[in-house]
Amino acid sequence: MTVEDVAWPVPDRPIAGLDEIVRACIPVHVLMAPDQSICDEAARSRMLGWAASRFISGLRLVLDVRTLWPDGDAGDDDFARVFDALSIIENEFGDVLIQNLPSDEVLLGNTATSLPSGPGLELADRFRRSYLRWRLPLLKSCENDNSWSQTPEVEDKLVRAGDDLLPNHPELLKLQPGSIVVDVCGGLGRVARRLSPAVGRDGLVISIEMFRCLSDRARRFACERDITNLQFRPGLAQRIPLPDATADAAVNEWTGGIWELGMGPVMVREMARVVRPGGRIAATHRLVQLQLSALAQPWVQYDRIYAWMREAFAQPELTIVAERIWGQIVPSLVGENASLWRKQYMPRLINPFDVTYRQDENPDTRADVYLTIIAQRN
Ligand SMILES: C[S@@+](CC[C@H](N)C(=O)[O-])C[C@H]1O[C@@H](n2cnc3c(N)ncnc32)[C@H](O)[C@@H]1O
Repeated sequence: MTVEDVAWPVPDRPIAGLDEIVRACIPVHVLMAPDQSICDEAARSRMLGWAASRFISGLRLVLDVRTLWPDGDAGDDDFARVFDALSIIENEFGDVLIQNLPSDEVLLGNTATSLPSGPGLELADRFRRSYLRWRLPLLKSCENDNSWSQTPEVEDKLVRAGDDLLPNHPELLKLQPGSIVVDVCGGLGRVARRLSPAVGRDGLVISIEMFRCLSDRARRFACERDITNLQFRPGLAQRIPLPDATADAAVNEWTGGIWELGMGPVMVREMARVVRPGGRIAATHRLVQLQLSALAQPWVQYDRIYAWMREAFAQPELTIVAERIWGQIVPSLVGENASLWRKQYMPRLINPFDVTYRQDENPDTRADVYLTIIAQRN
């Protein structure tokens, strides 16, 4: 739900019922119209501190040129300062939507939009154009990084349901009908969809993903399939927008970047925080498309990863209850296979573009290898 007209940078009075709504796992977004003080670090910190302390899930900002520049005068440098401030807020907060400017989906060409109208248009128009120039390269760079494996249809094919560890062994997470599970770095919802039957119609899987274009796509895909016990929220692994001890379990799967960037400990701490005592958390590191010859020495690859994961799980409130190495043989996705696959699926998610993979001289069978650590919250 969205709470409208919240004063910037913090509300001037408590929001009635907010705590109850958040505790019921309903994502709360607040609508704010920042003034010039968005460029001021102290004002931003006040806002971010308030939003984090209330477990606000998303910020909807109205960037109104009349509120930002009441005297009607601003140039490119002023615009850039506002966009810098936005980047800082986005990096720290995770889910920020600019309510009155084209959304990422529009910029990616997935839906139509209309031009702004009304008084003050000239400044508004320059500001909008400047926003497009700033936002578009950012989004385009995300496309390349994230499109590779990211279509729900492909993911469902890639990881065969029968081989998926946690959905097939709900007892490892102590899941039962009615359980609430948080899926951290949920991407297009593959893990959430798989866990959905284990928690049943009365349960809930809350998927947290940093890219809105992915969580929106995941929500659509789940709706199309009539899966109703999933929630998709844009948000960050390092700041899960849920109060302490709200969930029965938390999972994270296939996010190499989190471990590589040293964010494993903060993510696991957040997962432990949102799970109730006695609940379980599981993280799975997934190495995809390994040549079989490399499998002869899997620990050569896993030494470092295993050390990162053990370090992240070494927290006083956690007791490790299981460690598993598992995986599956998969067909090669190099060479022509990869190009065909990409051509077939990419346009569904983003603008069509074509990349031909290097032709592999020696296409062969590959394996995906997973390492899972499961811990119980003390
Ligand atoms: C390879 S995908 C895996 C998606 C899903 N967990 C699965 O197994 O199918 C990794 C996802 O993690 C997301 N991600 C990476 N860092 C994140 C962070 N700090 N907070 C939230 N999501 C993040 C990426 O945007 C991407 O969608």
